[in-house]
Amino acid sequence: MEARLVDGLGRGQTHWIRPPPQGMSLSARPFGRTETRVMAQIKGHRIFLTGAGGGMGRCIAAMFAKRGATLGLTDSSERDLGQTIASLGAEAGIPWSRVLDVTDASAVDAAVRGFAAEAGGLDLVVNAAGILAVAKVVDMDPAEWRRVLE
Ligand SMILES: NC(=O)c1ccc[n+]([C@@H]2O[C@H](COP(=O)([O-])OP(=O)(O)OC[C@H]3O[C@@H](n4cnc5c(N)ncnc54)[C@H](O)[C@@H]3O)[C@@H](O)[C@H]2O)c1
Repeated sequence: MEARLVDGLGRGQTHWIRPPPQGMSLSARPFGRTETRVMAQIKGHRIFLTGAGGGMGRCIAAMFAKRGATLGLTDSSERDLGQTIASLGAEAGIPWSRVLDVTDASAVDAAVRGFAAEAGGLDLVVNAAGILAVAKVVDMDPAEWRRVLE
């Protein structure tokens, strides 16, 4: 299954995101000109997101929901996923969602296909699932390091 990447200018540049003014959350801050062009393309896109219950995933889900995307939200934590869905505005409706562990390749495949079948296609996959281990690699237990990599 192929997913198309959305790129603001179609030339693969990296666009820096301006930090929000103090006291404003990243998802609430207004877009700059380039971001406005990128995000304008998001409307109607069918986007599958992992790690949607986490900090970055929730923020990404909120930005895409605000721009009219059709979202497929997943996370290994049912509680965190539920909190993200509850935090989205009414314009997001009730998004497609699944509890999903990204280390289970066949479950990921089934979830992506399931979302694409219900949404009528797939435009973008965003992987925001991950583990942030705040420690020096040399100090880490090998099992923990393996968990981060996997
Ligand atoms: N926050 C940052 O500034 C930043 C910067 C660079 C890279 N990252 C990396 O991006 C990833 C996400 O960052 P974050 O700040 O949103 O972290 P976070 O801990 O807030 O969220 C991570 C989410 O991923 C989920 N998750 C963990 N393991 C999973 C698995 N096996 N399957 C499915 N979901 C799983 C967690 O339940 C959680 O909801 C991390 O790997 C982090 O190291 C974060």
